[in-house]
Amino acid sequence: IEKKIAIAIDGPAAAGKSTVAKKVAKELDYTYIDTGAMYRAITYKALKLKVDLENPEQLHQLIKKTTLNLEQEQNGQKVILDNADVTEIIRNQQVTNSVSDVAKHALVREEMVKRQQEMAQERGVVMDGRDIGTHVIPDAEVKIFLIASVEERAIRRNKENIQKGYPSRLEQLKEEISKRDKLDSEREVSPLIKAHDAIEIDTTAMSIEGVKNEILVIVEKIRERK
Ligand code: CDP
Ligand code: CDP
Repeated sequence: IEKKIAIAIDGPAAAGKSTVAKKVAKELDYTYIDTGAMYRAITYKALKLKVDLENPEQLHQLIKKTTLNLEQEQNGQKVILDNADVTEIIRNQQVTNSVSDVAKHALVREEMVKRQQEMAQERGVVMDGRDIGTHVIPDAEVKIFLIASVEERAIRRNKENIQKGYPSRLEQLKEEISKRDKLDSEREVSPLIKAHDAIEIDTTAMSIEGVKNEILVIVEKIRERK
């Protein structure tokens, strides 16, 4: 039996992390864990309960009282917040525009990272986020850093919105994505940064299948060495 490893996939917004991570997990029969969805779910709850997003103690108390489960589905995962399915609603504009403000607090991250590390304990995971290779699983056997130009990432999100029938403006998406990247990269606590031992893949001109296959080749090479 092949030894199960941990695969960390980090990178900026809309680089294709979750799409590719899901496919890699399916191929390997591993568990996919979307840590961005965890920060989104907490942000959604905080907004609903009108918790001050600049008050880390209050946010910390809120998280401690929150159950958060990622249920494995055929093509991804369902996000269950205190027994309610919030998979779709946590992708809305309001959450998207506030999530980086919630995620910047050390007290918030401590609690989330603890939960994520418990999920990764058994290995056999593909986890995507911003700080997986640097903080959550610093000893992950495979670390991938996915990037793409802001233009390309805005185009991808735009297509996604149009497909879902949501209103969407390319220029606005570009601004939102750049702003979130800046907040995530410049925050003091575990900012978005490529781990020194991560392999960077620029996906700007790549297909989803192309990225998936490149990652699977990397995974195979590393598993052979074990
Ligand atoms: O899918 P998208 O790229 O829009 O973002 P996401 O992965 O859902 O993450 C939403 C936000 O959560 C990010 O912009 C970060 O502020 C935060 N996040 C984080 O700080 N650390 C992580 N490991 C994952 C997400
Ligand atoms: O998780 P993250 O925010 O990094 O990105 P995502 O939600 O997985 O991907 C954003 C969009 O880009 C999705 O609609 C993907 O289908 C698309 N995509 C693409 O067109 N080409 C790639 N090489 C990767 C993703």
